[in-house]
Amino acid sequence: MMAKARSEYVCQNCGSKSPKWIGHCPACNEWNTYVEEIIQREDKRSSSFKKPESIPRKVTDITASKEKRIHSGMNEFNRILGGGIVPGSTILIGGEPGIGKSTLALQLALRMTDRSILYVSGEESAEQIRLRAERIGKLHDKCFILTETFLDTILDHISNLSPEFVIIDSIQTLYTDMIESSPGSVSQIRECASRLLSYAKEYGTPFILIGHITKEGNIAGPKVLEHIVDTVLQFEGDDHHIYRLMRSVKNRYGSTADLGIFEMTGAGLKEVTNPSEILLSNYDEQLSGIAIASTLDGIRPFLIEVQALVSSSVYATPQRSSTGFDLRRLGMLLAVLEKRAGFRLASKDVFLNIAGGLRIFDPAIDLAVIVSVLSSNFDIPVDRKTCFAAEVGLSGEIRPVSRIEQRVSEAEKLGFNKIFISKYINRKITDLSRFKIGIEFVGKAEDVFKRLFD
Ligand code: TYD
Ligand code: MG
Repeated sequence: MMAKARSEYVCQNCGSKSPKWIGHCPACNEWNTYVEEIIQREDKRSSSFKKPESIPRKVTDITASKEKRIHSGMNEFNRILGGGIVPGSTILIGGEPGIGKSTLALQLALRMTDRSILYVSGEESAEQIRLRAERIGKLHDKCFILTETFLDTILDHISNLSPEFVIIDSIQTLYTDMIESSPGSVSQIRECASRLLSYAKEYGTPFILIGHITKEGNIAGPKVLEHIVDTVLQFEGDDHHIYRLMRSVKNRYGSTADLGIFEMTGAGLKEVTNPSEILLSNYDEQLSGIAIASTLDGIRPFLIEVQALVSSSVYATPQRSSTGFDLRRLGMLLAVLEKRAGFRLASKDVFLNIAGGLRIFDPAIDLAVIVSVLSSNFDIPVDRKTCFAAEVGLSGEIRPVSRIEQRVSEAEKLGFNKIFISKYINRKITDLSRFKIGIEFVGKAEDVFKRLFD
């Protein structure tokens, strides 16, 4: 018997539903995102595998072995996940088209030589994938390629092959005839993903789902999956398109604060294991206008170079330009400099740049910003073995920042011999006595300038 077809309107941006068409989504505030989707539910879902009965158990009776992680063959990837792939987990990798999601997925498939892998592609032909595979890795015969978009066929193949790891590229291309709306619609994405997910949980097979994000940065379809998958990784590029940054946005099995850095090369993605090395330039001479900050992205510390150029302004309105750092914050810091260091704002053009093309939101780079500006202004270089980690307040006070021990430790590890930090750190909880690097405790911007430029 045919089940009755039912239709509903679904916001293609956030997945909210409405029984009738509405122009404005009350949940995500987008306009014209509601699309009619016909849903044909069978009275009883056909499920190709049987679920065990659920019974309440005493918490003390449940044996929880610490989950064993699968090594993915890529250290950066393992680290972002919190130490490898958890069996039965589903990982959603989102990113704009062309960022390298398929490349990463295929590289993982080629590196995990010790288990059988099924790479399902709805976007490229098997020949294309093979050619790419030859370029970026070593072929092995446990890696299977399936070009298919019909979910039920894919699940059949998965059942027959019982792969130990499955990659779906991409979730937007899949469809099932249980739902009548087109592939890529919110209902199709949700239904396909949830059926793959129950397979993953049932058989302990880890899945990677790839999802495209639109240019505007809105995750459209895949966004509706964020709460059902275990881990959401976001793949993005830097301003100069040299590096690829991978962030974990959600992780049931690890922290979400970590950042992985990759470089796109002719032979696929290369892991960047020591970001500080690429982010600091190697010049022989002492140059003015450069200050190095010990910064954090999430929980990962790295040192980054702040470059400033200050020149006399020829126009009535001085120019301000900033790459990788908030322009309004730069304006605020310059005002502090005017008050505390006699910096003549009105007659100077200021250009600021964060090396490596990264955007830094960590307030701990404030001090390096004002030091680089003054260094350029006076044309006095800052010693290259000195770095900074502090926020600067409106009255020029040097404020403490989070995770100071990690920042100091990273600076010491990279061979710096002096770091300027706030003297207001909480000494009850922060013990810096084990470090050999010279620590300069400062309370006011003037103290810093006196020690550096007098
Ligand atoms: P791809 O993985 O297809 O992106 P996505 O799946 O996210 O859409 O990567 C596409 C880009 O990467 C493309 O512009 C070509 C480039 N690329 C390289 O530079 N080197 C390589 O080895 C590969 C495979 C791709
Ligand atoms: Mg792709």
